[in-house]
Amino acid sequence: MIRDIQEEILQIKKEKDICILAHCYQTPEILEVADFTGDSYALAVKASQVPNQTVIMCGVRFMAETVKILSPDKKVILSHSDAGCPMAEQLDKELLMQVKKELPDYTVVAYVNTTTDLKTVCDVCVTSSSAVTICKKIENDKILFLPDPQLGSWVARQIPEKQFKILGAGCPTHCQMTKKDVEKAKKAHPNALLLVHPECQADVVKAADYAGSTTGIMDFAKMSEAKEFIIGTENSITAHLQMACPDKKFYPLSKECICPNMKLTTLVNVLECCKGTGGEEIILEEETRNQAKKCIDEMIRLG
Ligand code: 13P
Ligand code: SF4
Repeated sequence: MIRDIQEEILQIKKEKDICILAHCYQTPEILEVADFTGDSYALAVKASQVPNQTVIMCGVRFMAETVKILSPDKKVILSHSDAGCPMAEQLDKELLMQVKKELPDYTVVAYVNTTTDLKTVCDVCVTSSSAVTICKKIENDKILFLPDPQLGSWVARQIPEKQFKILGAGCPTHCQMTKKDVEKAKKAHPNALLLVHPECQADVVKAADYAGSTTGIMDFAKMSEAKEFIIGTENSITAHLQMACPDKKFYPLSKECICPNMKLTTLVNVLECCKGTGGEEIILEEETRNQAKKCIDEMIRLG
């Protein structure tokens, strides 16, 4: 059954010149039919390069909007119209404008997990894999970072020479994991290395052997000599790693670390998107898109 649906997707994709981009948090059957998979940064860069006229983004809304911002002439479809990112919707433009008035000499750095509207009043975007590099390269030593205080303070700890102000509440999925989970997991698996995403709470990140983006965690685990790993990010990564490295053992830091939004898209949704009967086409007002594009371009230039 899954194989049949996949075959149909591959067939239509070819006939209609469709490119499927999928974030690593998607299910294996979706990743198998995707043209490119990766973390947020890799997908954003890919989005600016793919030649196809139609792009289906299997992920969440800000990712599909990033594709549209970079490729306005393409038809961009979000795989499931309800797949938003709660963190991306935490801050609104009016609040940020207010804060900017109080901090006029700060460069506004927005995690790419933000709405297009918010991006119009930010200076540069970052992703988890590019945030440290980009914040180091910014000439200003005063940075207003939003909307993830966990990622922001992780970046700030690595660039002590700069002054950071941080706004926002972060990712509800990653913030669920606590120091207690770390103690429990380390007790159960004393020889395992702890690899976590910097969206996790500071206590969790500080206890880790490695902190980095989704792709960073996967690359680290694949290349490491170690044989056991506790994974502190969305649980799909634990499953993908277990399939990719059957000789190693992977344990989730918490069984609850599942992003409900990333999990909304099914293989059938992808098929419907290919047929033109599902998903949501992303439409952005041209002035907003142009304004938001500046900070994505800056991210790609500096990253
Ligand atoms: P990365 O893809 O940058 O690792 O971020 C993870 C995430 O939460 C995406 O929404
Ligand atoms: Fe948003 Fe967190 Fe889900 Fe990523 S894991 S899409 S940041 S809620």
